[in-house]
Amino acid sequence: MEIIQQWWLAVVFGVLPLLVWLFWSWNELRFITPHRAHHSGSNKLPPGSMGLPFVGEMLTFLWYFKIVGQPDEFIESKRRRYGDGVGMYRTHLFGSPAIIGCSPAFNKFVFQSHDLFPLKWPSIELLGHNSLVGVSGKPHTRLRTYVTNAINKPDALRKVCKMVQPQIVSSLRSWVDKGKVKALVEVKKVTFENIGNMFVSFKPGPKLDMLDKLFIGLVGGVRAQPSNIPGTAYYHAVQCRKKLTAVFRKELEKRKLTSNLVSEEKNDLMEGLMNMRDEEGKILGDEEVLDNIVSLVIAGYESTSLASTMALYYIAKSPHVLEKLREENMALARKDEFITSEKLALLKYTNKVVDETIRMANIAPFIFRYAKDDVKYQGHKIPKDWRIILWIRYLHTDPNNFNDPMNFNPDRWDVPAKPGTYQVFGGGPRICPGNMLAKIQIAIFIHHLVTGYKWELINPDAKMMYLPHPKPVDGVEISFSTI
Ligand code: HEM
Repeated sequence: MEIIQQWWLAVVFGVLPLLVWLFWSWNELRFITPHRAHHSGSNKLPPGSMGLPFVGEMLTFLWYFKIVGQPDEFIESKRRRYGDGVGMYRTHLFGSPAIIGCSPAFNKFVFQSHDLFPLKWPSIELLGHNSLVGVSGKPHTRLRTYVTNAINKPDALRKVCKMVQPQIVSSLRSWVDKGKVKALVEVKKVTFENIGNMFVSFKPGPKLDMLDKLFIGLVGGVRAQPSNIPGTAYYHAVQCRKKLTAVFRKELEKRKLTSNLVSEEKNDLMEGLMNMRDEEGKILGDEEVLDNIVSLVIAGYESTSLASTMALYYIAKSPHVLEKLREENMALARKDEFITSEKLALLKYTNKVVDETIRMANIAPFIFRYAKDDVKYQGHKIPKDWRIILWIRYLHTDPNNFNDPMNFNPDRWDVPAKPGTYQVFGGGPRICPGNMLAKIQIAIFIHHLVTGYKWELINPDAKMMYLPHPKPVDGVEISFSTI
């Protein structure tokens, strides 16, 4: 009896606390011990916590992003606990030990040291090995020239401006007939119709609807665990990608066959990429054209539709902004005429609304890299193979960078943002090559919206969800009519 009692006492006061301690410290011991010899002096790891075994700080992340809906508290709580330091914290997130970057200076260091911090997408099979995100170094620079020339330069934007307006105008008219719409669903529809037209000259119809479904399936797998097992989102995405590539390949082959015949000019992205030559006169290979079309749709579809919808949402909540927008846009609007990209550039206030929308919307909250080797930054060590998570959303919501950051205030753009605090499109050699394309599409959408229509949010207090992208849970339901 006595022996049993002693045994229990040993378990309760000895083994159990040891197990609890081991559980809490497991990740620290596992990931920090290898660096312990240097984890001091000028070579210490950044402050932070490695969280629990296996999940790291994932539960805390989900708590702030999913449960309480205060995403910025994730970094704020670290700031309170560990101080500002050098703008980085160690953590374990998304299945890997990681360094979080949340200061303009550290983020700039990472963006500019692209050899030390390359990009590695786990789902590159879905995005395409020959796409912009699949290559680095010189091949990346070469490919970027093709892509930016095809989608982001003034000539390309002039064409885009002409191409997208008929669809936007007819879509907005159809919203009036419906009276009430879910803005996000409708904006996505028109954005995809425009992408179909701009990228491959496919017109609205069953074929485009089928492509839309395939793209939704493909995007669903990009953030999923890359295990190609039937039944998983990733497997479904791989199947969708195969079908999409087959459709685009058929179109490419058709164009190559007819390229010597006199045929109508398509003036779309596929034609642009097929015909573009570099300084040595070389053209892109078929796989490069196909992979880039698919990955540009992935990068540009959801981002642009969400940003346009959020513009409509913020404007609905700010009547004084709407008033100013109307005044500026009405002055330039001509009946039965589409606005040109040159005129859009003159809409100073509208462009401020676009910048403010993209800041507040935080469509891309993080940017991922990894450390190719051990790297030292301001007396701290960034261990080899650790993930780097640039928490750009925090830059845009930090009151040190933007006064009263949660207030939608386009006038703040009367003065430019402090250097390095506005990183909505990333930075360095991988800065978003579709930034001007996105901005012009949002500005065109706002132009037609404010010059012809009025709308009200049906659920102005709808909760926000933050994963995978921030948006109101009701998909921005509105009542809609002409002015
Ligand atoms: C509001 C809309 C958009 C936002 C907020 C956005 C944001 C970003 C960000 C933050 C990056 C940098 C990722 C990194 O450094 O790893 C990026 C890269 C990229 N974006 Fe965008 N983007 C938008 C629209 C577009 C559009 C319309 C396109 C093209 C149709 C596009 C194509 C790309 C591509 C291809 C990359 C990869 C660039 C590279 O690796 O060189 N994006 N975007």
